[in-house]
Amino acid sequence: MAKKTIIVSNRLPVTVNKNADNSLSFHPSSGGLATGLSTTYKQGGNLWIGWPGTYDHDQKEQEHIAKELKKDNMAPVFLTKNEVKKFYEGYSNKTLWPLFHYFTEYATYELDLWDAYVHVNQLFCNAILDHAEPEDTIWVHDYQLLLLPGMLRDALPNATIGFFQHIPFPSYEIFRLLPWRKETLDGVLGADLIGFHTYDDMRHFLSSVNRLLGYDSSLGLVKVKNRLVSVDAFPMGIDYDKFEQAADSSKTKQKVIAYGDLLSKNKSILSIDRLDYSKGIKHRLLGFDKFLSRYPEYQGVVSLILLVVPSRDKVDQYQHLKEEIDTLVGKVNGKYSRMNWSPIHYFYRSFSFEGLSALYKASDVALVTPLRDGMNLVCKEYVASKTDQQGVLILSEMAGAAKELSEAILINPNDENQIVDALYSALTMPEEEQRSRMKEMQKKVRRYNVHRWVEIFMNQLDNIKERQTAMN
Ligand code: UDP
Ligand code: G6P
Repeated sequence: MAKKTIIVSNRLPVTVNKNADNSLSFHPSSGGLATGLSTTYKQGGNLWIGWPGTYDHDQKEQEHIAKELKKDNMAPVFLTKNEVKKFYEGYSNKTLWPLFHYFTEYATYELDLWDAYVHVNQLFCNAILDHAEPEDTIWVHDYQLLLLPGMLRDALPNATIGFFQHIPFPSYEIFRLLPWRKETLDGVLGADLIGFHTYDDMRHFLSSVNRLLGYDSSLGLVKVKNRLVSVDAFPMGIDYDKFEQAADSSKTKQKVIAYGDLLSKNKSILSIDRLDYSKGIKHRLLGFDKFLSRYPEYQGVVSLILLVVPSRDKVDQYQHLKEEIDTLVGKVNGKYSRMNWSPIHYFYRSFSFEGLSALYKASDVALVTPLRDGMNLVCKEYVASKTDQQGVLILSEMAGAAKELSEAILINPNDENQIVDALYSALTMPEEEQRSRMKEMQKKVRRYNVHRWVEIFMNQLDNIKERQTAMN
């Protein structure tokens, strides 16, 4: 059998939905991991293993889902309601997500959530063992599966295992708060190659490995029980051609026309994120409020298009955030709206690919201001969609992407005044300056696209396997 790559992530690029009449429907998943990798896994006999996003299916439904997913090279790991609650909503998103994004006050540490995390990582391991051949490469993704590389290593000592973390890896002072910190590092170190978006994340990881497990590293190489493990930074890219081509397609043009006044009449500032406290949506709204009050000449002239994609809505912090955003949007709209103009157009749902493409293509400014973000692909998608090179990107220093996109207007999102000043600069920036900044960013985003990212990671994985063989 030909050598294949098995991609493993908690969420599959397709999410299953159970409708009111009990029928099942299949939708593309949101989030950078799923969207970023969705074009690469379909090649050859590759396979993507993950959770289809629902729970408690009977045998017949499971068979139906497995059959449908198989057509697109995917295989499901089914979870029960209780596993979803404790592993996904619980340990993954109430412990690891807040801690790794430096929201320490949101993180809970509960033994039964940890137990569920260990158990579900083992379920993923079992599912992989059902599909893996000795020659295969197994590429595990993200914080929901930190123990999986170690479990796979125990089961398949010679396997080729890569691990990539899509969210930040926090500094040692934060990571050490985790009661299961050593087990977590041991789990990740089961991989042959461990990737992060930035050098800072990589440095933080190696520092924790050194201080908690005592392993030294040199040039990103760590010796773990006589096995050489490589750790490196691989800033993730997007499918550049897909966004560039879509921007000038007739479908996108039709959407732009359909959106009418929203994009054509006023100046538009675009904000797109999953509902998440790490994205800084509240700060952004407060900044926009201040901007309208400091520059009243922009009232009636500029609108914020606020797209918030529903996410993790069973988790308390996300529910609270939704309420806070609703209130803030209401306040700003109540304060400034005119009969023929609203300052904020708020959408709490996901958009189709063409819908997103139209928003990227036609908006004047993208306001991307996370408080902490592993990479942030939205800003790269915006850059790729600006085929006329008109548009300004305002980007938070706290996003991994800021390391690459230095021609954006970079700001600290905790400083409201910086948001206000950046909006003013963006809206008054001469066309020529917009073009020259956008051109530079496009060069980088085009070059380091997602295909290049996969290629570089895979080459380095092959490399480390060769070095290991040479050592033995
Ligand atoms: N996205 C989507 N549907 C939407 C809005 C956004 O699929 O309605 C996608 C967007 O195109 C991007 C991803 O969600 O690829 C968000 O990735 P990002 O890295 O910016 O943030 P994450 O959600 O992974 O934290
Ligand atoms: C981020 C994470 C992904 C996750 C995505 C959507 O991109 O890095 O692992 O899949 O958010 O979140 P969700 O909880 O819906 O899978």
